[in-house]
Amino acid sequence: MQTLGEFIVKKEHDFPHATGELTALLSAIKLGAKIINRDINKAGLLNILGANGVTNPQGEAQTKLDEFANGALKAALEARTEVAGIASEEEEDVVIFKGEKAKNAKYVVLMDPLDGSSNIDVNVSVGTIFSIYRRTTAIGLPITETDFLQRGRAQIAAGYIVYGSSTMLVYTTGCGVHAFTYDPSLGEFCLSHEAVRYPTQGHIYSINEGNYIKFPLGIKEYIKYCQQEDEATGRPYSSRYIGSLVADFHRNLLKGGIYMYPETASYPQGKLRLLYECNPMAFLAEQAGGKATDGTRLILDIDPTELHQRSPLFIGSQSMVEKVEQLIAESSKNTF
Ligand code: AHG
Ligand code: MN
Ligand code: MN
Repeated sequence: MQTLGEFIVKKEHDFPHATGELTALLSAIKLGAKIINRDINKAGLLNILGANGVTNPQGEAQTKLDEFANGALKAALEARTEVAGIASEEEEDVVIFKGEKAKNAKYVVLMDPLDGSSNIDVNVSVGTIFSIYRRTTAIGLPITETDFLQRGRAQIAAGYIVYGSSTMLVYTTGCGVHAFTYDPSLGEFCLSHEAVRYPTQGHIYSINEGNYIKFPLGIKEYIKYCQQEDEATGRPYSSRYIGSLVADFHRNLLKGGIYMYPETASYPQGKLRLLYECNPMAFLAEQAGGKATDGTRLILDIDPTELHQRSPLFIGSQSMVEKVEQLIAESSKNTF
């Protein structure tokens, strides 16, 4: 059995100039995840369910656990010498850590501390998403928001924790995707899936079909395509939608499938946030042989302009993402 800590150190030896800093940073995330996991598991017993009466920077109701998870992860990262600052779904502005050590720290972290938080009160899987970049401001100077507004392609590591029937941490540093299952009796994440790849043919599509009437034409056509019978591609596909990006993505990664959140009437730019939801998941998807686009552009090639900017997202098995892209392109030609 191999623990996450051992695995990261072993992998680091593959990089000749590695300094151990990324290893230390990932271990801070691991600690944050253990703390969040502990409290999520006891959620029904503690007074931590429900809303806290605060609205987050995107105008969505914050839950007590959103606030708690944000605090736990922020504290774990601030305690280290490797992180210059963080950006979070639950923080309006970037948080620039204080002191000399932060001025010299090499990395910035973006995070969605609790993803799918509307599921928490009903005991359905939720997650944590993280994305790590090298700072762009020179070492020794205070970082600014610009350090966080980098293309997804520049990520040096990304991953998620899924708090499901078991808790798993899944990450990439650009050398494949590796997954670790938490053993509560040991207090350790243990390697359970090395070098995860999407199955060649997926059979699952995940989308909130309650928004169907307002979907763009290409998406409606893709849904129809998923539902049509065809032996060669194994259609009709199954529809599965949890409403936690992390959990939906995780299932589709292991089983083969596509997750879609297009633009809708309520969310004309899409609902998901580019920097701490779409980009880290897109990095993982590409590293597992899949694809992630906003319908026309690769997610990882989008130049961000705002910290909390949203984007449509089509992510999963490559052939499925390419099919929906094709139908989006054809439907846009037909309207002119
Ligand atoms: P968060 O809880 O971090 O705000 O994210 C919720 C996101 C995502 O996880 C999920 O897939 C999507 O919102 C669900 O949205 P709908 O309820 O509109 O389907
Ligand atoms: Mn989220
Ligand atoms: Mn969230």
